[in-house]
Amino acid sequence: MPKRVPIRICVNGQPREAFVEPAASLLELVRGTFGLTGTKEGCGTGYCGACTVLLDGQPVNACLVFAVDADHRDVLTVEGLTTHEGGLHPVQDAFVACGALQCGFCTPGMLVSTVALLRRVPYPSEADIRAALAGHLCRCTGYRSIVRAVTRAAAALAANPENPALPQPARPRGMRSRA
Ligand code: FES
Ligand code: FES
Repeated sequence: MPKRVPIRICVNGQPREAFVEPAASLLELVRGTFGLTGTKEGCGTGYCGACTVLLDGQPVNACLVFAVDADHRDVLTVEGLTTHEGGLHPVQDAFVACGALQCGFCTPGMLVSTVALLRRVPYPSEADIRAALAGHLCRCTGYRSIVRAVTRAAAALAANPENPALPQPARPRGMRSRA
């Protein structure tokens, strides 16, 4: 059995520690070790986007990232989108309001990629939205409602800067970023 490797990681603003096998994926870490099952496993090979999380703010396919490569870095999963009061993030509200989900399997990845997009491009065009979500496959919605939801979320965030933004990760003491 391969020797397990200790890692320290900031997940949804909380410092976490784990011992992982060298070949374990970040997806296995968040779902299996940390029990954050909001992140979904679809293809397991980088094609569907269901497993998307933010790693140091950038969307990644967690099935393709080694857990050890997330050592001393920040991870955001869909569970981290809820506000400090436990409410839905404005992006989640917009997806609900626009009916931008059916089975919901693709939705957690879509949500975190949308958050990353709106941090980078507060007023995205339809082309921006489609480009940002191009790596996410949805078998149910036909995508039009998803584009509407992202547009609605952008408007909501722009209209109310006091709207709850993402919780800012609190780095564990002594933790440094590689980014
Ligand atoms: S499960 Fe990772 S891209 Fe499909
Ligand atoms: S809502 Fe079912 S896969 Fe997207």
